[in-house]
Amino acid sequence: MAEQVALDPRRSVVLSAGVDPVVIAAAMNPAMSSWIALRRRIEVAPGSRVLIMGATGNAGRMAVQIARRLGAAHIAAAGRDPERLAALPGLGADDVIELGGEADTVRDALAEVGRDVDVVLDYLWGEPTAAALRAIVPARADDSRPLTWIEIGSVTGPESPIPSAALRATNLRIVGSGQGSVAPRDILEELPGLAAEISRGGYDIAARAVPLRDVTAAWLDAATTTERLVVVPD
Ligand SMILES: NC(=O)c1ccc[n+]([C@@H]2O[C@H](COP(=O)([O-])OP(=O)(O)OC[C@H]3O[C@@H](n4cnc5c(N)ncnc54)[C@H](OP(=O)(O)O)[C@@H]3O)[C@@H](O)[C@H]2O)c1
Repeated sequence: MAEQVALDPRRSVVLSAGVDPVVIAAAMNPAMSSWIALRRRIEVAPGSRVLIMGATGNAGRMAVQIARRLGAAHIAAAGRDPERLAALPGLGADDVIELGGEADTVRDALAEVGRDVDVVLDYLWGEPTAAALRAIVPARADDSRPLTWIEIGSVTGPESPIPSAALRATNLRIVGSGQGSVAPRDILEELPGLAAEISRGGYDIAARAVPLRDVTAAWLDAATTTERLVVVPD
């Protein structure tokens, strides 16, 4: 919100002319979480089956769309809010799992998807991740089929009681994706391509520009709206 900002040019990306900076500001952070995970932490083989834990958040909604764009053949979206979940098939999810439902129902749904899932993009961690592994591990159709669990966010807890059998009895690999596990220069390399990708359109990004003079109202709105609010100069 300042008139001038000092920044490190080595960590900046110049946007092409004509790019809508509001859309970029709204989408870049949530989009890069899955874009970088799927491009820098794993190679998504064509035909891969992906499960997104926490798919109803901003990053999860983008992950559904980006997983599809990067070649996932089947996408299961797990989240809590029924209304936001219901919108995800329209963005490319093949299955949705309501994590706030009855425990047995949630376990069975995760087991069904987990039989042959290849990649999990996890925005939740904490207990939901441990519960998902408890459901998925005994359900694997082929225990030696690689399963890469990519930890991206920790909305439901910074620690998760991962069952030991998950690592012993299945071909599970847990990795993370973020600054550090991916080198800054590698993140930077991805950003122009992602900005171009977003600018080409085709993504559902609910962005709303808010003039700086209305920032107080926007700040109060932020807790309740599903839109990405982008404060712009008056
Ligand atoms: N590593 C990276 O590169 C990277 C980049 C961006 C973001 N992140 C991280 O990713 C996470 C998600 O970011 P975001 O932008 O998507 O946040 P967000 O838009 O605030 O979404 C968070 C979602 O968490 C869900 N949630 C909260 N408690 C839950 C529970 N007990 N069970 C299931 N879902 C629950 C809520 O879903 P409901 O609406 O269904 O209740 C909410 O929509 C954050 O931890 C963020 O820091 C990481």
